[in-house]
Amino acid sequence: MERVLSGIKPTGQLTLGNYIGALKNFPKFQDQGETFLFIADLHALTLPIDPEVLRSNSRDLAAFYLAAGLDPKKCTIFRQSAVSAHAELNAILQNFLYMGELSRMTQFKEKSQKLNENAIGLGLFAYPVLMASDILLYDANVVPVGDDQTQHVEITRDLVNRFNNRFGPVLTMPKAVVTKVGARIMSLSEPTKKMSKSDPKGDIYLKDDLKVIRKKIMSAVTDSEARVAYDPENKPGVSNLLQIYAALKDISIPEAEKLFEGSNYGTFKGAVADVVCDVLGNLQQKYQAFIASGEVERVLEEGAKKAREVANNTLHRVQHAVGLL
Ligand code: AMP
Ligand code: TRP
Repeated sequence: MERVLSGIKPTGQLTLGNYIGALKNFPKFQDQGETFLFIADLHALTLPIDPEVLRSNSRDLAAFYLAAGLDPKKCTIFRQSAVSAHAELNAILQNFLYMGELSRMTQFKEKSQKLNENAIGLGLFAYPVLMASDILLYDANVVPVGDDQTQHVEITRDLVNRFNNRFGPVLTMPKAVVTKVGARIMSLSEPTKKMSKSDPKGDIYLKDDLKVIRKKIMSAVTDSEARVAYDPENKPGVSNLLQIYAALKDISIPEAEKLFEGSNYGTFKGAVADVVCDVLGNLQQKYQAFIASGEVERVLEEGAKKAREVANNTLHRVQHAVGLL
């Protein structure tokens, strides 16, 4: 049976990129296999974050998991920090990833570049060790993520080979599963950059007012060619909008291209805004209902109980393999 695991960091506000690249794809897994979805709150500490913001983002993220269609009866939703096995496995596995390979991670290079050299936390550098621990604790073979996280799943695979070569078949080999359409949603204002929770003009936030969303889409950067076609290199803005449209309508990019053959950019953007507002309007209503229901904490607590059982089992297996037990 499939074991599925994924997580999202409760940093900043969730974006349409998070929704299309990750969140939207999670619910279908809960019917296929045993599915674990968590709030990567320990990972959120790898860059400075206000405690109140972290707390409220974590609750928000849990409500968005539920609003996206994750059903706590069919899957396990929890906070990473509520399951101490994540930190314990991290302490063991940090000896099996090496500084050279960690320093080559794109995410580390991008994020550390923006920091003063004397203020780059060890947690940011060791980020993939904790992420490997997350994945391996649940013996996950399927890890649904957006394009930017595949490198971290690859390094987890290297770790599994290294560890199992030495200690025998202890860890389960995971595989990243990336959505066909929408694995990398770009900024609306700078479509050569990933949409990434940090640029209010180029990001669409899941909690944005629908009017604001429409306005952002209508003023998205395109080009002067007035031809709707998918060509990420030469037409990044239009291609990004096509990608958003196709992902939310669950159609292929060529199908979306065909629909807008001969359309001008105004009509095209209007249609993209319609579908985004439709999907996010619906999501926002459900999100509000879950926040109002007061159920979120209970779901997280029950999820943590279930997660602890599975995670502690794996932790014991690893502790035994390396000689701690
Ligand atoms: P993060 O917000 O970095 O914790 O990312 C959570 C999930 O959303 C990961 O699976 C990411 O790969 C995915 N994701 C984040 N930004 C984007 C984006 N712009 N396009 C597609 N997927 C994304
Ligand atoms: N690193 C992921 C991100 O930034 C979040 C994450 C943490 C994750 N642990 C994970 C994703 C384990 C998948 C599996 O998006």
